Amino acid sequence: MISYKEKIAEILAPQIEGLEKDEIMAMVETPADSKMGDYAFPCFKLAKILRKAPPLIAKSIAEGIAENAVFEKVESVNAYVNMFVSKADLAKAVVSEAVSKGADYGRSDIGAGRKVIVEYSSPNIAKPFHIGHIRSTVIGNSIYKLYDFLGYDVVRINHLGDYGTQFGKMICAYRRWGNKEDVIREPIKTLLSYYTKFHEEAEKDPSLEDEARAIFTKLEHGEPEETQLWQWFRDESLKEFNRVYDMLGITFDSYNGESFYSDRMPRFVNELREKGIMEEDNGANIVRLDEYNLPPALITKSDGSTLYITRDIAAAVYRKETYDFYKNIYVVASQQNLHFQQWIQIVEMLGYDWARSCVHIPFGLVSLEDGVMSTREGRVVFLEDVLNRAVEQTRQIIKEKNVNTENIEQTAKDVGIGAVIFNELSNYRIKDYVFSWDKVLNFEGETGPYVQYTHARACSILRNAGEDVVRKAHEEFDARYITGESAHSLIKLIYELPDVILEASEKYEPSIVTRHIVDIAQSFNKFYHDEHILVDNEDEKIAKVALVLAARNAIRNGLGLLGMNAPKKM
Ligand code: ARG
Repeated sequence: MISYKEKIAEILAPQIEGLEKDEIMAMVETPADSKMGDYAFPCFKLAKILRKAPPLIAKSIAEGIAENAVFEKVESVNAYVNMFVSKADLAKAVVSEAVSKGADYGRSDIGAGRKVIVEYSSPNIAKPFHIGHIRSTVIGNSIYKLYDFLGYDVVRINHLGDYGTQFGKMICAYRRWGNKEDVIREPIKTLLSYYTKFHEEAEKDPSLEDEARAIFTKLEHGEPEETQLWQWFRDESLKEFNRVYDMLGITFDSYNGESFYSDRMPRFVNELREKGIMEEDNGANIVRLDEYNLPPALITKSDGSTLYITRDIAAAVYRKETYDFYKNIYVVASQQNLHFQQWIQIVEMLGYDWARSCVHIPFGLVSLEDGVMSTREGRVVFLEDVLNRAVEQTRQIIKEKNVNTENIEQTAKDVGIGAVIFNELSNYRIKDYVFSWDKVLNFEGETGPYVQYTHARACSILRNAGEDVVRKAHEEFDARYITGESAHSLIKLIYELPDVILEASEKYEPSIVTRHIVDIAQSFNKFYHDEHILVDNEDEKIAKVALVLAARNAIRNGLGLLGMNAPKKM
């Protein structure tokens, strides 16, 4: 499709000495008020280069572009050149493309031939899968969808927290006070209670700590009994996690977590030693990072056991060797910023030139209205409960409001879970937020249900238009019928969607897509309000139906990139 910004830069480049095409392109603005044109070019910056007053520059540039066929009207207003695209041409180009490409509208192949790893969710075994985990899970899933849509070959990894001394404690507690049936019935809550009990008892009897350490050592050496118990805890926890992933429609290509790297560690410990990067410190091994203004990193403890960071170094190298990634993306909380700075630095010090292809994508904290979440104090909101409650509430609304749907259960799921996902992806990921039931379950305003409802409304118009008209709209339409003010605004937003998707991927920021589809939905509703769509005039009807199709595709594709379904009726 035509890029107007590029076109403007092409026309202007010969007129403005000293500015490259790319620089000009970056200067082009899209005024919020369409009275100021579809595109505007500010001339302030040029005053220095051209040694003329900005308004004079604007005037002469406007005259230079005026002769061009791309714009219907070009005028200079003070220091700005305002450009108005031909509404019918734009409508023709955008709507044809959005209609014909359908589910592929916005897709591209810029990533073809490049492998990207997205690591997300990565919960800890035998710990609650709580509302805090929704962030990595949902943001990561959307980043995966964005990269996939742009043609990258994406590998989704769930780097499970399935290793560490806590498993020694858990096995110890299970053997002393545990019960198989309880674990099977409710794995995570039960295992967690063992873990808590262990800490209580260990305060009274410190020898328990030694016992747990000995058990962990056995586990590290692959002793069958300990390994079997650990494997069982892992399987049971994963079953619980998978229930949530199923609800969210999320899958992974690999669940290789920390334990997977447990026996790959010696190689890196040796490498760090041989390259003189690591030094001994009271029996432990550390890497000093003063030069990079970072605190030292602990690589092995004095008892020889490795740490979280050691496993991340091993995992990165393994991934490079296995997948030869172009980028290795980690969607992990901002509390771990330091951890990522440290290990990526160490990988660089080891001489791996791809170290900076590992990118940490941080996000802010979720807290509860009564404070920060605390597993120990029982102040947690389980993700599964949130999803179930959202579905339940939606089911009720559907029944009360007599919502038009053939499948109440499916719609309740699509909308209820969609509301949670959309809420999660509405704000910049780096922002902290307070979890509130009211907000998640609010179906008014700029929410997921509102956008889904708009999509269903478009589908309903298409049903009413009838198959024949819809088919004709796919073939040919007269764009002059969709040049009214609200149609034009809607078309511009649909036109921007592919760029928005690209920007969201570059910034690892799904919320850019979220906002844009809210804008499309609002603009669509304004068009629906302002204009009569299924009019008697057949040509006019076909053109308007084509625009409805285009808007429906844009909204549906946008929702899909967030990881949401778009019900046809609601
Ligand atoms: N399991 C960790 C946690 O819950 C997150 C893992 C992040 N990924 C990584 N490669 N370190 O805090």
